Amino acid sequence: MQGPPRMSQHHEMRRTTAPGIKLRKGREKIVALTAYHAHTARLIDRHVDFLLVGDSLGMVMHGHETTIPVPLDLMIMHGAAVVRGSKRALVVVDMPFGSYEESPSVAFRNAARVMKETGCGAVKLEGGQRMAETIAFLSQRGIPVMGHIGLTPQSVNVMGGFKTQGRHPEEWAAIEADAAAVAKAGAFAVVLEGMAEALAAKITRSIEIPTIGIGASVECDGQILVLEDMLGLSPRVPRFVKRFAELGSAIEAAVMDYASAVRALQFPGPDHVYGMSKHEDPQAQVTKMSKTKAS
Ligand code: KIV
Repeated sequence: MQGPPRMSQHHEMRRTTAPGIKLRKGREKIVALTAYHAHTARLIDRHVDFLLVGDSLGMVMHGHETTIPVPLDLMIMHGAAVVRGSKRALVVVDMPFGSYEESPSVAFRNAARVMKETGCGAVKLEGGQRMAETIAFLSQRGIPVMGHIGLTPQSVNVMGGFKTQGRHPEEWAAIEADAAAVAKAGAFAVVLEGMAEALAAKITRSIEIPTIGIGASVECDGQILVLEDMLGLSPRVPRFVKRFAELGSAIEAAVMDYASAVRALQFPGPDHVYGMSKHEDPQAQVTKMSKTKAS
């Protein structure tokens, strides 16, 4: 007869999990940032509850104007790097445009690839009522899903730009229905992006899963920002971003120092070069030979 599972069979989960995030609603604020590579993931892992490998990486890292061109393989490559660089935070990977909209089974196939090949703990996909069936399909089959409603960047061509949502009362009903549909379908949390504060507050009060705001006010259960935006690395940022540092100018200043040190032959200096190993050092060999002759 099989005994109770031993530690070797079932590891204790040390990372924050999707259900762990869901449980925080009404208890503590959820803190999240995007991460695209192992070294930034390593730096921020201990300070956030989840790391989002957002498809914004197409714009931030790869210079695209929108997130539309981002391929699934690129998300997998960056997702795996972020998982390798982190130990504690839940890693959520964005499903890119075209990888999940066609049908629940296509979404499952691609989301399963993301989970297997990155080791992440959840995926995120954009869309409310229209994606409810897919969210239910994935979450009933072992894939935790984070929803994303309001300003959904993958719909930029339909919306006619990156436009704040819910600033007119007649827009509210559809967005509230999106939030309710995503929660009912089994998402463990939902991103509210670019949304009027009063609407974000109403949605946050009315659904049972945590709302994660980006440009949706302090009324949300948690907050997320694009790391490069809040560090001052992005040349232009939307109004809702607070720049917590100015690393862009710090990097430029460091690079200017480096360039002038190289040009002035001040770098590399004596502290930055390797000498010969003792056995190979010609000076040491000469000394050794003259000592041998003398004896
Ligand atoms: O891709 C991304 O970075 C996102 C955040 C803006 C929530 O989806």
